[in-house]
Amino acid sequence: MPEKNLIYIIGFMGSGKSTAGKRLASALGWSFIDLDRKIEEFAGKTIPLIFSQDGEDHFRKIESDVLKSSGQLVKTVISTGGGTPCHGDNMDFMLNTGVTVYLKMTPAQLAGRLLGSSGERPLLRNVPDERLPAFIEEKLAYREKWYCRANLTVDGISLNIDLLKSIINSGSGN
Ligand code: S3P
Repeated sequence: MPEKNLIYIIGFMGSGKSTAGKRLASALGWSFIDLDRKIEEFAGKTIPLIFSQDGEDHFRKIESDVLKSSGQLVKTVISTGGGTPCHGDNMDFMLNTGVTVYLKMTPAQLAGRLLGSSGERPLLRNVPDERLPAFIEEKLAYREKWYCRANLTVDGISLNIDLLKSIINSGSGN
């Protein structure tokens, strides 16, 4: 397992990455950052505005740059965006610089959590409610190729932060 100074929380939109990241950081006594908020600070506008004014490719470029500058941090838990691991060499970068934790949920669980959140999530903007479960199923199946490379996979619903903390502290990664 790589140096344990950085932990990246990865997973689909709506899987609770920020909440889990904050709780894990607090349990470890580490700092916490949310990559989406850092991107917004860097760009000086919200993520929906970056997508609508500058396009997704521009968002992915900023996302990768902000991720890589965060790679210098120590003792920090970083919650990433749902698409972060799946673009460019971001997943390799995270695997090389920290411990990656995949917060796994089923499409049905994600659909329940994502209903009504299209205002803050540009990728869901044109997905009608009745298409949401199928959209999630397809996109998750595609993205799991990256998510499954994580050092650890944990159930996002029954997440036990103390157990996760002890696994990370033991450095076993199993
Ligand atoms: C995205 C997920 C979002 C945000 C952006 C793109 C994605 O973050 O980075 O809207 O590609 O899945 P959350 O996973 O925190 O919603």
